[in-house]
Amino acid sequence: MRWYAVDKRRLPWRAETGETADPYRVWLSEIMLQQTTVAAVKPYFENFTARWPTVEALAAADEAEVMRAWAGLGYYARARNLIACAREVAARGGVFPVEEAELRKLPGIGGYTAAAVAAIVFGKRAVVVDGNVERVVSRLFAVADPLPGAKPRLRELADRLTPADGAGDFAQAMMDLGATICTPRSPACGRCPVAAWCVARAEGRPDTYPVKAKKAAKPRRHWTAYWLERNGEVLLARRPARGLLGGMLALPVEVPAETAWQEAGAVEHVFTHFALSMTVLCGAGDSKLEGEWWPVDRVEEAGLPTVFAKAARRALAFRQVPRKQAA
Ligand code: ADE
Repeated sequence: MRWYAVDKRRLPWRAETGETADPYRVWLSEIMLQQTTVAAVKPYFENFTARWPTVEALAAADEAEVMRAWAGLGYYARARNLIACAREVAARGGVFPVEEAELRKLPGIGGYTAAAVAAIVFGKRAVVVDGNVERVVSRLFAVADPLPGAKPRLRELADRLTPADGAGDFAQAMMDLGATICTPRSPACGRCPVAAWCVARAEGRPDTYPVKAKKAAKPRRHWTAYWLERNGEVLLARRPARGLLGGMLALPVEVPAETAWQEAGAVEHVFTHFALSMTVLCGAGDSKLEGEWWPVDRVEEAGLPTVFAKAARRALAFRQVPRKQAA
């Protein structure tokens, strides 16, 4: 914690020493940071807090606008829960609950986020364990059992280290250590404030921790996306509220019209549970499919999730290339 006091990262959601953290900003940042790096989150965080500076403002926002602003961050259920949670907190007078157990009852707040907000904002003693903390702890104690089975053991060790006072600073110190020094490959042990206590370091191979169980290869799925144009506009369709990329605008994945479809190639994208190969077909015409026509030259602003943004770029590139009319 002495190291953190001096070397902590200056992050837009962090309070300066002596100031109290804003619950809204900490909650928003912790939701965004799950499964996502600090570097990727920063511009989204700045945009969200500029447009919706309070939890009440976010609660009153148009849902489609929030989804559009989230586009590219991934794990879109987080955005849907974000709105639901903001609305619940706004209904409670804009006040977040203080206790971990109460925080957990809110939409989208799981064990990690509840602990992080309770500790960082409200000074509660909560054990905050993310991937960085798991890595640091697994090295400090040279935990040889592989993840994910080792999770309960790593949590127990993190619990033993967590102080009664300053659990929030402790958690963030562990995260910063994991992100800047105790990195997955080639950790900078020479600069580490706890190297003297690190069993993995003493063994000589800190980078071999945490040990991970071999993952099964991801299955591959094949989809087709349709780029249908009419008068300089392209047809977009909103995805069903539940399920993959739920609630997001996308290219249609069911044939939206009978026309001479031309293949623009395929794009690849890796999701948590499968790899996707998406063939992109281009065509012109009208459609009976329910959807939104969006100006082709402004399609980057539509808020397409990354896989469909890739497909759109492929279609746009395909349009540029002169070719013989298909037979
Ligand atoms: N990752 C997730 N939450 C974080 C925080 N509060 N500080 C640094 N890294 C984080």
